Amino acid sequence: MSGFTAPHCGSLRAGDVGRDVELYGWVGRRRDHGGLIFIDLRDRWGDVQVVFNPADAPAAHTAASELRSEFVVRVKGTVGRRPKGNENPRMATGDVEVTASELEVISIAKTPPFQIEDEVEADEATRLKYRYLDLRRPRMQRMLEMRHRVVKAMHRYMDEHEFVEVETPMLLKGTPEGSRDFIVPSRLHPGNFFALPQSPQQLKQLLMVAGVGRYYQIARCLRDEDLRADRVVEITQLDVEMSFCDEEDVLTLVEGLWVQVWKDVLGIDIKTPMPRLDMQESLLRYGTDKPDLRYELEISDVSHALRETNATILRSALAEGGVVRCLAVPGGRDMSRRELDELALIAKGAGAKGLAWLPGPLDRHLSEGELSAIRSSAGAGDQDLVLMVADRRRKAETVMGLLRREIARRRKLIRDGEWKFTWIYPMYLFEEDDQGKLTYGHHPFTSPWPQDMHLIDTQPYAVRARAYDCVLNGVEIAGGSIRIHERALQERVFEILGMSHERIQEQFGHLLDAFEYGVPPHGGIASGIDRLMMAMNRTDNIRDVVPFPKTQSHQDLMLGAPSPVDPALLKELHIKVVPPDKSDR
Ligand code: AMO
Repeated sequence: MSGFTAPHCGSLRAGDVGRDVELYGWVGRRRDHGGLIFIDLRDRWGDVQVVFNPADAPAAHTAASELRSEFVVRVKGTVGRRPKGNENPRMATGDVEVTASELEVISIAKTPPFQIEDEVEADEATRLKYRYLDLRRPRMQRMLEMRHRVVKAMHRYMDEHEFVEVETPMLLKGTPEGSRDFIVPSRLHPGNFFALPQSPQQLKQLLMVAGVGRYYQIARCLRDEDLRADRVVEITQLDVEMSFCDEEDVLTLVEGLWVQVWKDVLGIDIKTPMPRLDMQESLLRYGTDKPDLRYELEISDVSHALRETNATILRSALAEGGVVRCLAVPGGRDMSRRELDELALIAKGAGAKGLAWLPGPLDRHLSEGELSAIRSSAGAGDQDLVLMVADRRRKAETVMGLLRREIARRRKLIRDGEWKFTWIYPMYLFEEDDQGKLTYGHHPFTSPWPQDMHLIDTQPYAVRARAYDCVLNGVEIAGGSIRIHERALQERVFEILGMSHERIQEQFGHLLDAFEYGVPPHGGIASGIDRLMMAMNRTDNIRDVVPFPKTQSHQDLMLGAPSPVDPALLKELHIKVVPPDKSDR
């Protein structure tokens, strides 16, 4: 077999006319045209038309009449120009065809559960169960190749900037990145467990203590969290850490990386420096810390103009410490009542008490002055509608953010062809978790702004962090921070987060100890390659850009994992399985 050195099906062009070739590939469509048989022969590089003529090669023609989709074959033949008028401009090989002299069936195939073509829609569970067939589609092959190109460009760029790739272990001790750990039982230490890395965060910091100075790694991170359309359990990150740096160094490095990746992979020049948005400003103007800037639509605050209003819903929300936020919908006066009710439903689904719009039922409770203050704050023109939400600040932001996205989608305001990068910087050191408890914003190793240190005990939520996220078209593609490198400050932050002295020692003793042996100031960032691929491929479904993804319910449908293990293995590991109660489900 000489398929490795043979020309590729998808690479043949007019310049190959006259060439004798041997091709290896999968049979796509087959068409019998009285006498002549045509097939499309496909490999990773694309497909080419092969013709079997009974007059020239009767044996090959007879064998071709038995061919079915997805058979693997070897074809010998000659590349010829297609007859005038028969060229296919939709195929890269559309100027040529191969006239076969010999055909060998190497492997036969059952009828696949879906057709191997880009346009054919199959349900996701079937695609994942037969991922090896799904990946055969040209679109998916392009995705795999693009992922490879992205990672290759990253290696090149990091190497050019004198970063060293260092592999960090998979079997670790639990590290807080905000998700649950996946754990691995230790056979030799019964009752003890390793944790798989949620990220190599502490190790890369320890590499800075070790004097590596510039580290990077294409790192796999595992996080046991509830999945959404933009989340995977097995994340691939470009993980970076550097010593003696500040925010500007990290941001400039990463902007240069995007320039290189876009140039190498997409052939596109992107502009730097990229815009920066303060976290608070982002939440106010876009209702999210991941703003999609491919459309304008800006939210504004009108609380100041409504403190004395007769509109009770607004006044009481303000009296309770809440805010009123509004958003102009360009040309929105043509929106039907049904459409507005749908928007109200979305707002309520996100926890809002309600949604008001101007002009609308609320108008008669508002004074002329208030109405015009709202319209001017929203920047609303004559034909525009204004949406309004009154609620607690966080809630109002979330709801307005959702409405902003929904309006952009419905009114087709998203400029699809654009690449809108933005940095969210600075961010905040702490935030409230779902139970209203104080937790870290980025992770507990993030350095506070020195100027805000005096607020750390009295107003912790006001302390800014030396942390940054990179957002592309509404997707968070990277996040990082300048770290704490002093033992005392690190201990203080752990304490503010409510950790006991014992727990700090037990969980982070190694890091705190390391900080006593000469530690360079350092910082870094990790970029989610899956997220980046999502944005580059302009898909909303992260599973489209991951070679072998798990389902939303953390299953590998192809391998049938997770699955029970041999009881003997469990015994060796000193593990007893307690079957779940109904109440656990
Ligand atoms: P963070 O947790 O912000 O930071 O992750 C960095 C980037 O990784 C991507 N990412 C994900 N992608 C898909 N699915 C997920 N579940 C998921 N979680 C994260 C995002 C995100 O911006 N150790 C720190 C980095 C640092 O401080 O240097 C960290 O992992 O694109």
